Amino acid sequence: MNNETINRLVEAGVQRLRPLPAVAARLLALVNSPYSSADDVAALMEKDPALTGTVLKMANSAFYGMPRSVSNVNAAIVVLGFNAVRSIALTSAIAGAVPVGSLDAKKFWKHSVTVAAAAKFIAGKLDIVNAPDSETAFCAGILHDIGRIVLDISFPGSLKEIRRITKEKFVPTHRAEFELFGVNHNRVGSRIAERWGLPPELECAMVYHHEPLACEGEQIIALITAFADVFAHRVKCGTYDDEPVPLIPLSCAAPLGLDTEKIESLFNEFEKTAANSSAYIDAMGIS
Ligand SMILES: [Fe+2]
Ligand SMILES: [Fe+2]
Repeated sequence: MNNETINRLVEAGVQRLRPLPAVAARLLALVNSPYSSADDVAALMEKDPALTGTVLKMANSAFYGMPRSVSNVNAAIVVLGFNAVRSIALTSAIAGAVPVGSLDAKKFWKHSVTVAAAAKFIAGKLDIVNAPDSETAFCAGILHDIGRIVLDISFPGSLKEIRRITKEKFVPTHRAEFELFGVNHNRVGSRIAERWGLPPELECAMVYHHEPLACEGEQIIALITAFADVFAHRVKCGTYDDEPVPLIPLSCAAPLGLDTEKIESLFNEFEKTAANSSAYIDAMGIS
């Protein structure tokens, strides 16, 4: 396959992602906006009852462990916080905009939610001035591997070949994809970001989570997502069963104010809660 054909197929795959619903697009515009308020979100979501229903189910799931259940968006915002409700709504909208390919949807979303939970956890523990908001890190985790779905749609049946290469050559998935197509799911992230109008920090997490030190933009969130991806693989939540754990250089820890020992202790703490991501994807209605 020549480059032109590959490009055309990838673009066709990106176009198969549905546009995000109006509410989600508005919520994205509110990401990091100092002018956004809980009332804005509640008012926006009320216009989309289906989304609101899923969001309440997710908010009431064991993932958040709320002491009592909530029955409306305002109450969810009071208990969970505005940013958390916003990321739940975005997750639900993103999952609804992605078509089902040959990937195992349940495994894919379990991986994404586990990376999201780990990214949120890591971001919340950082003691550096430029740490991102932990809910933005959560959204980065949800989005980081969407390019895999695009490649799966663009090149039907290629997963088998990707798995063969990863096994035979002991390389991570993004390397096998590159070998096969000359492009990989992370690089496709920039086209998805363009299609959905995602902010730069989410785009950087998608494009650079396998090579965070190469990111010249929002590097911190790319680094957090890279470690979160490793955490998810270490708790056996890869996208498929025998997927190798991605490797990142130890020097990735320093910009986060961490070292190997601190990373290990964060992982040990995260590992205890990792099973909660199952409750979250059940509430999302992924089967
Ligand atoms: Fe990835
Ligand atoms: Fe991943």
